[in-house]
Amino acid sequence: MSFSLPELPDSPAERYAELVDHARALIDGEPDRVANAANLSALVKATVPDLNWVGFYFFDGAELVVGPFQGLPACIRIPLNRGVCGAAARTRQTQRVDDVHAVADHIACDGATRSELVVPLERDGELIGVLDLDSEKPARFSDDDQRGLEAVAAVFVDSLR
Ligand code: SME
Repeated sequence: MSFSLPELPDSPAERYAELVDHARALIDGEPDRVANAANLSALVKATVPDLNWVGFYFFDGAELVVGPFQGLPACIRIPLNRGVCGAAARTRQTQRVDDVHAVADHIACDGATRSELVVPLERDGELIGVLDLDSEKPARFSDDDQRGLEAVAAVFVDSLR
């Protein structure tokens, strides 16, 4: 199988609509969470501009443990009471941070990161983990980015059924 990167339209909403279709096609019929997290990380990193890190943390029943990602090596374990990822997992709400330096609780895996989006992953009320995106640009993530990446996260969760 060969895979070529999709050419996406300019408008953010249309871009994400197409990206979500590509994400679904990429992992179609595959239930393995490591395989799907790896391919979705690669797809998002290659198509969403200005990201320095994108990847998954999985909940092991006690804390978040790093899973497949694209970017520099990252913090391995994050307790639910720490960091932006912990907040997303604990509250089950997407966390969007325009300036991570202004967040005392932010865990700096890469000092170059300036803004962050973390989407919780849950299935039937059960915490699976989080999808974490970092950017070196302040306030990189818009409402369109948040909606689009929540939709990508939903494609991942659906694939586990
Ligand atoms: N910054 C995150 C930690 C994960 S790394 O960014 C990959 C946080 O504060 O939870």
